[in-house]
Amino acid sequence: MRIVKIEIRPVERSEAVEYLKVLPYANGLPNWEPAPASWHGGPEAWPPPRKPATEQQLEAWADEVMDVHFHPQAAFVDGKLVGGSAMLSLAITVPGMRVVPLGGVTATGVIATHRRRGLLRGMMQAMFEEALDRGEPLAALSASEGGIYGRFGFSPATMRARWELDRSDSRFIDPVSSTCRAP
Ligand SMILES: CC(C)(COP(=O)(O)OP(=O)(O)OC[C@H]1O[C@@H](n2cnc3c(N)ncnc32)[C@H](O)[C@@H]1OP(=O)(O)O)[C@@H](O)C(=O)NCCC(=O)NCCS
Repeated sequence: MRIVKIEIRPVERSEAVEYLKVLPYANGLPNWEPAPASWHGGPEAWPPPRKPATEQQLEAWADEVMDVHFHPQAAFVDGKLVGGSAMLSLAITVPGMRVVPLGGVTATGVIATHRRRGLLRGMMQAMFEEALDRGEPLAALSASEGGIYGRFGFSPATMRARWELDRSDSRFIDPVSSTCRAP
């Protein structure tokens, strides 16, 4: 029996480029190994990749990932980064018009060869604990596959609809108030 070393921990700047590469790979975008960069080179969110990102682009995005409000988390197996997730420090207005700090889960994926071993569960647990340490008592996400997240305590909280109105045929009934009390 071979013993593997599993580590779940925040991503350091020196690992940020590998972290950026693992997410598209987990989501079925181009190959990560052995060499070519897999992160797409376009400005859009998730387009079909037009071309691999350059090392320079990856370094620039890696700097952005280390933003103080973005908390990247990763799973390492024998030192190799095989999965990632992240929490954004956000805020949400709750009933009573109170604004509460919130951890927003995003960018989640584990590469196909390392799934069903509890790596996502480990990353979620670590992110919840770190969010509490930062003073973020709530967590939320918008999932492309909602069935994954019920086991971690998430369920539908709201519905979203998109309406398009012709401005010439519409107007606000009442003035809009943006007044919220801070906690
Ligand atoms: C979803 C994903 C991150 C799960 O990672 P993982 O490390 O395999 O997850 P875990 O081993 O911690 O599994 C936790 C539980 O989630 C369940 N689960 C995993 N994928 C699931 C899915 N697509 N739908 C429903 N449940 C799922 C597993 O059944 C597992 O429980 P079990 O092993 O007790 O049955 C991984 O499958 C993945 O990267 N998928 C492709 C990218 C993706 O879908 N990302 C999420 C976008 S919202």
